[in-house]
Amino acid sequence: MTGIARIDSQSVLKAYARWAPVYDLSFGAFVEAGRARAIEQINASSGKLLEVGVGTGVALPNYARHLSITGIDLSPDMLRKARDKVREKRLHNVDGLFEMDASELTFDSASFDTVVAMYVMTVVPDPVAVMRELERVCKPGGEVIIVNHFAQDHGVRGWVERWMAPASRALGWHPDFRVETITDITTLELVESIPLKPMSLFTMLRFRKAMELPAAKTEASAQAESAAPTETLAEPA
Ligand SMILES: C[S@@+](CC[C@H](N)C(=O)[O-])C[C@H]1O[C@@H](n2cnc3c(N)ncnc32)[C@H](O)[C@@H]1O
Repeated sequence: MTGIARIDSQSVLKAYARWAPVYDLSFGAFVEAGRARAIEQINASSGKLLEVGVGTGVALPNYARHLSITGIDLSPDMLRKARDKVREKRLHNVDGLFEMDASELTFDSASFDTVVAMYVMTVVPDPVAVMRELERVCKPGGEVIIVNHFAQDHGVRGWVERWMAPASRALGWHPDFRVETITDITTLELVESIPLKPMSLFTMLRFRKAMELPAAKTEASAQAESAAPTETLAEPA
């Protein structure tokens, strides 16, 4: 966060090496309310959860025990903290924590029932590539949940944001990150958008991936269908 002027992977790694020891008690605590709302939503789901940008694993102890959780993050320093939590708190529902770039996930397509990224989209070098990856690894019928700050250029909040812009940059947010950056490029259906505390500065977006459509008719099956005798309801003689 601090120190990310132009975002690239190297500056993310450097910045989060510094943030790792203090994250949970600083920015991590400031954004707890939004994280708690997303976790409430996730805990009502079932199956396999992927947390992208899992960081120090601050959310991990709060996920329901029935979920099977995988976490990934670019920063080995943040992941070390997450692994400590899993060990100390005996989080048996965590299947694995991997060092991985969110814009190039190594998981197969349609691997997870729920995919979540909290406070991540504005700090990744390529948010469009990340959104495409979240969509790809989500199963048909599954959900992608994004918690983030999105710019608003009207009303009191827009004025506050412009006033706070220099401070926001120091925090590593792109204060000008617009929700359309991701909603315009995804084929997922946006089912809910909820403003979050503090001061509605953050938003939870809940997307659903459509169930798979029935396989398209092949030319051969269409011909066979048209050649088949059509059933008629003839009047009895
Ligand atoms: C602000 S922290 C959010 C941590 C956690 N999700 C939370 O709720 O507090 C952002 C995290 O995104 C990670 N990150 C940044 N770019 C990434 C990328 N390209 N791939 C994976 N993780 C990335 C950072 O290392 C950091 O742990």
